[in-house]
Amino acid sequence: MQSLNNKIVLITGAATGIGKAVALRFGQEGSHVIVNYLDRKDDAEAVTGAIKAQGGSAVRMQADISREDGVVSLFAAIRNQFGGLDVLVNNAGMQQDSDFIDMTLDDWNAVINVDLTGHFLCAREAARLFMQQSSEDSERSPGAMVFITSVHQNIPWSRRANYCAAKAGAAMLMKTVAQELAPYKIRVNAIAPGAIKTPINIENFRDPESRNKIMRKIPYGRPGKVEDIAAAAAWLASDEADYITGETIFVDGGMELFADFAHGG
Ligand code: BGC
Repeated sequence: MQSLNNKIVLITGAATGIGKAVALRFGQEGSHVIVNYLDRKDDAEAVTGAIKAQGGSAVRMQADISREDGVVSLFAAIRNQFGGLDVLVNNAGMQQDSDFIDMTLDDWNAVINVDLTGHFLCAREAARLFMQQSSEDSERSPGAMVFITSVHQNIPWSRRANYCAAKAGAAMLMKTVAQELAPYKIRVNAIAPGAIKTPINIENFRDPESRNKIMRKIPYGRPGKVEDIAAAAAWLASDEADYITGETIFVDGGMELFADFAHGG
């Protein structure tokens, strides 16, 4: 994807999982990759190392994206070091599951702060940078954002009220920001992953019984790979998707297709 060459791309939560794969993919596309991480410095270093080993360009930048001061400093550092930003991949996320009646305010806040407020803060700072880069006579997009949400922006999931609420909120945040920034040719889209094998759910895939339960929900018959998400993210951020904004692509092997109905209704 030619249009990603030399682009400055920030991926939040890029030390592991989906974020890592997205970072590696943008590295392969010739982008300057900013690997954001919270506390996994060694993992982040391994990601930048892997990108450089393939001839790419990458730096790591620590920031707690759930904190306004952390996000403002992160974007100031990006402006200082790179002069601007072309793509934000709003990826960082977490789960903290609990029966609803036992869910503490801390459980609730922990997930909302990262999966929703963190996405707001990064999107706002990216939008501020993009607006500075926007010139009225230009037909070229001054920047694009890709939110990584979840099938659980639509599918309720017991014991994850905090997570589902955050993801549904992020989905509507994405659409509203897309509507507001479209006149400036800033594109804002989302990818809703299904069951992708990552550290967030790897235990469920290890245990044969819970693996079977997950697999029954995936008509396509295989777990998702982080590379499936990375490919969609690269394409959505590229000029090939120039007329797409406010959309969510579900990359879920058909998880949204109500698999049980294949066996009678
Ligand atoms: C969750 C995973 C889960 C998947 C499908 C994702 O958003 O983070 O833990 O396997 O949705 O249910």
